[in-house]
Amino acid sequence: MAIHSIYERRSIRKFQKEDVPIEILNKILDAGRVAPSAKNRQPWKYIVFGNEQKKEFLKAMESGLQREEKGFTDLPESQYGIPDARNTLRIMQEAPIIIAVMNTNGKSPFLPIGNDERITEICDSLSIGASVENMLLAAEEMGLGALWIANTCFAYKELTAYLNTEEQLVCAVAIGYAGENPRQRPRKKFHEIVEYRL
Ligand SMILES: Cc1cc2nc3c(=O)[nH]c(=O)nc-3n(C[C@H](O)[C@H](O)[C@H](O)COP(=O)(O)O)c2cc1C
Repeated sequence: MAIHSIYERRSIRKFQKEDVPIEILNKILDAGRVAPSAKNRQPWKYIVFGNEQKKEFLKAMESGLQREEKGFTDLPESQYGIPDARNTLRIMQEAPIIIAVMNTNGKSPFLPIGNDERITEICDSLSIGASVENMLLAAEEMGLGALWIANTCFAYKELTAYLNTEEQLVCAVAIGYAGENPRQRPRKKFHEIVEYRL
């Protein structure tokens, strides 16, 4: 049941070597396909990497992180996040499958953007978030582990050059059989986030 998966899902950062059967992968991606989206624009596209292709994709991520570490930074106020991005890259190397999540209407975050475009992009990002969460819940329900990854931002230019696309790389998802069983991470208390005005 969906509500069970919502409470049982965890970010998985250790994976077993075992491959993910293509039928299961297709079911996960199809759960992403049917998500709600602003104006039903369905602004998502998924590029699935495994084996040697995954290694090539992650080489692009490695060179982006190296550039950032050498100080040629695109994100000067986010430098504190680079060690975490390194750790994420290690997790991505271990996971059998990496899905690059594209916004087909989006542009590079390093280009200027007008008000209307910003609103559209916010709505498209929300839609893509719904689609990714559908996939994470489907993965959980089918006994797989997954990690939602935004640390791709540190290698944005290298990754989109490797993908040879002008579309926006929003994030990535790592999928595989979990090699750990983490406890629930802390959450704000119900009363901290809900205000009833009945
Ligand atoms: C948009 C988004 C981006 C994230 N990016 C990363 C990431 O790059 N690396 C990572 O290890 N975890 C990443 N996470 C996972 C969060 O750290 C995790 O969801 C949070 O700590 C709560 O843990 P839980 O998912 O196990 O409940 C991301 C999560 C979201 C929603």
